Amino acid sequence: MLDMTQVRSTLSDHYDLEPSVSLAEELKEIYARMDRVVTPPDWVTYAPYVRAINQLKKERNAVILGHNYMTPEIFHGVSDFVGDSLQLAMKAQEVEADVIVQAGVHFMAETSKILSPEKTVLMPDMQAGCSLAESITAEGIEEMRAKYPGAPVVSYVNTTAEVKAASDICCTSSNAVQIVNAMESDTVIMTPDQYLAQNVANEADKNVVYWPGSCIVHEQYTAKDLRDFREWNPGTRLIAHPECPPDVVAEADFSGSTSGIIKYVHDEKPEKAMLITECSMASNIADELPEVDFVGPCNMCPYMKKISLEKILYVLHTMENQVEVDAEMADKARLSVQRMIDLSRKLGL
Ligand code: 13P
Ligand code: SF4
Repeated sequence: MLDMTQVRSTLSDHYDLEPSVSLAEELKEIYARMDRVVTPPDWVTYAPYVRAINQLKKERNAVILGHNYMTPEIFHGVSDFVGDSLQLAMKAQEVEADVIVQAGVHFMAETSKILSPEKTVLMPDMQAGCSLAESITAEGIEEMRAKYPGAPVVSYVNTTAEVKAASDICCTSSNAVQIVNAMESDTVIMTPDQYLAQNVANEADKNVVYWPGSCIVHEQYTAKDLRDFREWNPGTRLIAHPECPPDVVAEADFSGSTSGIIKYVHDEKPEKAMLITECSMASNIADELPEVDFVGPCNMCPYMKKISLEKILYVLHTMENQVEVDAEMADKARLSVQRMIDLSRKLGL
């Protein structure tokens, strides 16, 4: 675990990170991408970190892959590529860089390392996990295989390398239905998200059986919440991530991966939108869509929120927190991830 006192002392020995009004002004073009959601005093404190990280990235030939749930100063201030899990995995494989800093959670960094073993992959905080990834091990996969002999195992990318290695193919929320439909068997095992599996089952032509994992952020929403939101905010478009329970998805106007949600709001430009997902999603697109009024509430992912500018700068400076995956396990896990990427490309996803 990072010792934040030591992190701060190391950083202050090497960088001038004092809040700076003049630097905030100098970097105003970056600030313009988030000025609807980040206050000027906050920007004055972020700007020195943003400058230091962006300079250090050049020295290290590093890129930052930022998930859609990162806070705006990370998403707009220092990320070279942003996107959902599938887009970030694809980018990790194709990007030319020596170092990847994964501004997201641990399974995403592991996926990057599996796909790009020659690159150094850094996690700003190793404790940034995921309740889904923690809900299943390789033994769980074997248990499911014993229960449903012959059925292929489609595992969500929100899993450890060990689980990916024990699975037949991976999926993300943006390709799950198509991946499940592409399996030859009538019965398909989905792990570890019971709700994603149930939502996929409602759309796919397969008998989907599943592991009982869930996302602690999305499982909190209820269908009644959505009905109440609608009543209190007439005319609001409700847009839910498919990690939400199926009755929540049924109440929503649209459901899709984090990038699917962003695309929907861009295309539809509803007057009022409520994103039934992690809080930073609405913040990150608020400036691009001034005509849309984003109505709360939202739920925070405590794992995603462990990532900060300070930790990003520290790991880039020290090159600590390198993500390693056992080579044999990475070879097996790569097969599952690569099958998903190949199939997604073939299907034009
Ligand atoms: P996406 O693939 O939609 O970005 O989802 C990842 C995730 O962890 C959502 O909770
Ligand atoms: Fe995992 Fe849920 Fe957080 Fe996504 S939002 S990283 S699924 S805990």
